[in-house]
Amino acid sequence: MADLMRVSFTIERRLYEELERLLATTEYGNRSEFIRDLVRERIVRDSWRRNEEAVGTITMVYNHHQRDLSGALTSLQHEHHDAILVTTHVHLTHDLCVETIIVRGHAQSIEQLADELRRNKGVLHVAVSMSSTGQRLK
Ligand code: NI
Repeated sequence: MADLMRVSFTIERRLYEELERLLATTEYGNRSEFIRDLVRERIVRDSWRRNEEAVGTITMVYNHHQRDLSGALTSLQHEHHDAILVTTHVHLTHDLCVETIIVRGHAQSIEQLADELRRNKGVLHVAVSMSSTGQRLK
């Protein structure tokens, strides 16, 4: 069992009402878990801002008919083999592929890999989802 603290705090009535509205639109069973997750979200954002070790997912949509693109994307991923945990490739349509790449490393290096992938002609969209190694979230 975690070492639990009971906390009380003061906020403006309008913010409180917004909090209640948010809670009502989610499936959270209680305020405590909702507040815990807000704090965790902030910890993850702060961790990325400070370039700490992180886990992220890069989602990339590209046209595999683009000349030399598939080879270039594979080469880039081999250059970062030590950081890439797994890559999943899906043939989205006749022309388009989507890959999700789960990466563990310093936040800036994950962003840099996403930028390097994004710069290739035929890559239509690259999104980075920021997550965490989980060490500071328990
Ligand atoms: Ni494909």
